[in-house]
Amino acid sequence: MDHPISLRKVVKTFGEGLTAVHALRGINLDIAAGELFMLIGPSGCGKTTLISIVAGILRQDAGELRLFGEDLRTMSESAQADFRARNVGFVFQQYNLVPTLTVQENVALTLMIGGLPRRRAMDRAADALFDVEMSDRMQALPNSLSGGQQQRVAIARAIVHNPRILVCDEPTSALDHEKGRQVMEILRAIAIKPGRALIVVTHDNRVFKYSDRIATMQDGHIVRMVRRHFVPIDQADNASPSASVPVGLADGAAFAPVG
Ligand SMILES: Nc1ncnc2c1ncn2[C@@H]1O[C@H](COP(=O)(O)OP(=O)(O)OP(=O)(O)O)[C@@H](O)[C@H]1O
Ligand SMILES: [Mg+2]
Repeated sequence: MDHPISLRKVVKTFGEGLTAVHALRGINLDIAAGELFMLIGPSGCGKTTLISIVAGILRQDAGELRLFGEDLRTMSESAQADFRARNVGFVFQQYNLVPTLTVQENVALTLMIGGLPRRRAMDRAADALFDVEMSDRMQALPNSLSGGQQQRVAIARAIVHNPRILVCDEPTSALDHEKGRQVMEILRAIAIKPGRALIVVTHDNRVFKYSDRIATMQDGHIVRMVRRHFVPIDQADNASPSASVPVGLADGAAFAPVG
């Protein structure tokens, strides 16, 4: 079966000449169905760039990205947009909520843009907000919420259309331990549904235990891959990493089975 997410020699450079920033220097990566994949590494190493390419917010300069076996570059612009809209959810590092819309409207917005009648979009938004325990603030404006509450609204917005691929940039950074745990359990429950895949960028070592694999990035490369055994949610709190294997920088090395 095709991997939900597959990258080969993906390169992304910002700017040119002496000021060029080599954000991704040839990323090879396969993410399996049902996998919760974490991406860590120092500020500026390329994490947001990588997941933005997966989500279609940025386009790679070279290399190949396939989602469920599909090379989106072979599709028309509108077919690409449609594929992404149906299959991908993105939780941004900044929450990007629309300040003039209520919480519920923010979550319903992309469904309405996609053509769903307002009433049904609002109902589905309510369901997604229930999942992140924000039902009681559906009529609030985003600016009246705490950072952690805004974070949960951003997650509801990313999951409201039930995407097969979900990418999250620092989804627990603004949350205390208990709220961070709740969010990771929500995300874990999404990841283990059949045919799903989830990438979580994080600095938060308290949430590593929810991952199946952890990749460390450095200066545009994946320099290390740790595979953990699958741990059911209710046992995740007591789990510890099972293996830690540096993968080196060579092409393809990141695919070596570890753990
Ligand atoms: N639009 C852009 N224009 C120019 N340079 C950019 C742009 N976006 C990212 N970069 C640069 O690319 C590199 C990788 O950035 P990226 O945002 O992927 O890092 P990151 O690992 O997500 O960092 P952080 O942990 O701080 O969020 C950085 O040096 C950054 O300055
Ligand atoms: Mg980032």
